[in-house]
Amino acid sequence: MGTSGADSQGHASGLDAGRSVLVTGGAGFIGSHLVRLLLDEGSSVTVVDNLSTGRRDNLPPSHDRLRFIEADVTTGIDALADETFDEVIHLAAAVGVRLIVEQPIHTIETNVIETSTLLRFALTCGRDGTPANVLVASSSEVYGKSDRVPFREDDDVLYGPTTKSRWSYAHTKALDEHLALAHHQQNRLPVVVARLFNTVGPRQVGDYGMVVPSFVRRAMSGQPLLVYGDGEQARCFCDVRDVAPALLALTRTPSCHGRVFNVGSDRPITIRSLAERVIETLGSSSPIKTVPYDEAYAPGFEDLRLRQPDLSRIREAIGFAPTIPLDETIRGVRDAIAQREGAGA
Ligand SMILES: NC(=O)c1ccc[n+]([C@@H]2O[C@H](COP(=O)([O-])OP(=O)(O)OC[C@H]3O[C@@H](n4cnc5c(N)ncnc54)[C@H](O)[C@@H]3O)[C@@H](O)[C@H]2O)c1
Repeated sequence: MGTSGADSQGHASGLDAGRSVLVTGGAGFIGSHLVRLLLDEGSSVTVVDNLSTGRRDNLPPSHDRLRFIEADVTTGIDALADETFDEVIHLAAAVGVRLIVEQPIHTIETNVIETSTLLRFALTCGRDGTPANVLVASSSEVYGKSDRVPFREDDDVLYGPTTKSRWSYAHTKALDEHLALAHHQQNRLPVVVARLFNTVGPRQVGDYGMVVPSFVRRAMSGQPLLVYGDGEQARCFCDVRDVAPALLALTRTPSCHGRVFNVGSDRPITIRSLAERVIETLGSSSPIKTVPYDEAYAPGFEDLRLRQPDLSRIREAIGFAPTIPLDETIRGVRDAIAQREGAGA
C-alpha cells in the first residue's frame, strides 16, 4: 500500500506522513464513503463504530492505513487516549425515524453523551495537545416542524411537545449543535456543524426506515412500494458521493469553523413521485401502496410536508453544488444491493 501514516499495528502518526483522522460511525453509510475518500487521499484513518447500524464490510477488509475499533464512541476514545488526530469526523449517532420512535432512551443517550465525550476528547487530541479540526454531523430534523422553507441555518425552529418521542431526535441533534458551538466559543475548538438533509446512495440500508433503499429493494423484487401518508410530503435527496467531499471541505476550511451549514440538495420531490421514479428507473412492475402514518410509525406521528434547505451559505463557503442526478443514485443503490446479495450478505 502507498505511503503509510501508520505503524505496523495501524497506529496513526505524524502529519508529514499524511493526515491522521478519527471517524466515529465510519462503518455506516455516510462514514464508509468518507473513509474511502480519506484513504484515497493518503490519510490514516481510525474508525470507531459499534456496528449498531453500520457494517464492517462497508469498509475495506484490510488496509495498512485503516484501523477499525468496534466500540461505542466513549469506550473507543478511552482506548485512544494517548493518540493524536488532525481531524475528527463525528458521524456516530442513533439514526432513522423508526429506531428513534422505538428506542427513544437509546437515541437520546447516544446522541448527547457520545457527542459530549467526543468534543472534550477533540480539545486536546491534536498535535502537541492542541485541538483537532472537528465536524459534527447534525440533521435537518433540527428545523423541527417549521414550515418556513427553504430552511436557513439561522432560522427559528419549532418542535412538538416532549410527550411525543418523535421529537427527541431533533432535540438531541440541536443539543449536539449547541455543545459544538459552545466549545468553539469557550475553548476555540475548530468545529463545524453539518446539518445534513436526506442523503442517499450506495450502501444505505432500508432497515431503519430509510425511504430510497426501501423503495429500491421492493422494486427489485416486485413487491409494493409503501408510501406513508398521502405521499405528497416532499424531500430533497442528495447523493452521498456529493455529500462526503463537502464534509471534508467544511472540516478543512477555517472560515467554516464555529458555524452551521446545511448540506444536501435543494430540489424537492414528493415521496409518491420518488416511488414512481424508482419504478420507472428500474423498469419494475411493483405497485404503489399507501400506508397511514399511524400504522407505519405510531399513533399521532407528525411528519413535515416539505423539507428543503437554503444552500447559499455552503455554496459561498466551499462552492458546494450537488452534481449526481437522482436516477443515477437510484441505479447506484440497486447495484450495491445486488452486489451485497450476490455476495450472500
Ligand atoms: N443519511 C442521512 O440522510 C442523514 C440525514 C441527517 C443526518 N444524518 C447524520 O449523519 C450521520 C451518519 O448517518 P448515516 O446515514 O451514515 O447512518 P448510519 O446508521 O449508516 O451511520 C451511523 C453509524 O454510527 C454507528 N454508531 C451508532 N451509535 C454508535 C455509538 N454509540 N458508538 C459508535 N458507533 C455508533 C453505527 O453503527 C453506524 O455505523 C449521523 O450522525 C446522522 O444523524 C444522516
